[in-house]
Amino acid sequence: STASKGGYDHFMLKEIHEQPQTIRDTLRGRVSDTNQVMFPELKLSREQLLNFNRIVIVACGTAYHAGMVAKHFYEALLRRPVEVSVASEFRYSDPIVDQHTLAIIISQSGETADTLAALREAKVKGATTLAVVNVVGSSIARESDEVIYTYAGPEISVASTKAYTTQLIALYLVGLYIAEQENRLGPTVVAGYVELLKALPAQVAQVLKLGPEIKELAQGLSKSSSFFFLGRGFDYAVAMEAALKLKEVSYIHAEAYAAGEMKHGPLALVEPGVTVVCFATQSALYDKMLSNVKEITARDGGAVALVKDGDEGLDTRSVDSVLRIPSTHDWFMPILAIVPMQMLAYYIAAALGREIDQPRNLAKSVTVE
Ligand code: G6P
Repeated sequence: STASKGGYDHFMLKEIHEQPQTIRDTLRGRVSDTNQVMFPELKLSREQLLNFNRIVIVACGTAYHAGMVAKHFYEALLRRPVEVSVASEFRYSDPIVDQHTLAIIISQSGETADTLAALREAKVKGATTLAVVNVVGSSIARESDEVIYTYAGPEISVASTKAYTTQLIALYLVGLYIAEQENRLGPTVVAGYVELLKALPAQVAQVLKLGPEIKELAQGLSKSSSFFFLGRGFDYAVAMEAALKLKEVSYIHAEAYAAGEMKHGPLALVEPGVTVVCFATQSALYDKMLSNVKEITARDGGAVALVKDGDEGLDTRSVDSVLRIPSTHDWFMPILAIVPMQMLAYYIAAALGREIDQPRNLAKSVTVE
């Protein structure tokens, strides 16, 4: 019934709209009055943190994409190699993991069979395991050395939305926490970042107001035969999640690509009827993205740009449509960039009359291999 869906037609849309609150819930208790990061639930000592020379992140699906964002953040912040693996690959790859490894396992359900097996593999090899999990008391939460819960609440839609953004929040906090413990960042700098994280719920609420605009855009885009989602750095990580959302609920072929790789093959596929969504939220890579956008429009592909408010380099003279979102530090842009993409996937699927909450062939939690 729509009552159980809080008045929304689908759980997916309800859960998209819950994100300001779930982000707030995931921050609560983890940030102090002076904007320092605290994790009362972690037993890890400062000595243990200093002992890690590498971080491996393991997950499946949307949780894997959250890990891709975390990799960029941790490498920038902690200057330590971070490897992200899909659990089904990791578990059979004789992974290079030892007692100097921090293994971060991400899972909404805490029950994904491959992710659980990967956690066990990392433990056997001597890694310290830290799980970022939504479901309290789940298998992964119980077996991991350390657990950080996301407070997304029950997620019913098979396509994950609020779990992803709360995973990002938890992962950002972990990075800041480690940097703080290692004295890489002083309290004032940490406080500045925490202040930005605390501003995200209101900014996400702003992004949600794009709903009607995105719904209208989706009507036209629902006729596309295929989609590419392009970005660089953090934007590439978000593009991967955006493409997954669209294929899950709309059944339209969608692919994420590192923008600079397009010319090495996929550009051959760009023609009228193909829509290319270009993410341009990363200042340092902005000019590079502009050139990539031109590669698309020169081939008559439909181009949609996702930019920060105030962006003057991309408008409807250069692309078919522009979505403008509030801005924060480039590191935290993924939270604001994914929300319009969740809505775009939702409204395209709705325009096509798809099931949305329970896509064909997919399961919410994959507990068998
Ligand atoms: C399934 C779900 C996805 C989810 C993935 C990992 O494929 O449909 O939405 O991202 O499993 O699930 P987990 O519960 O481990 O995050």
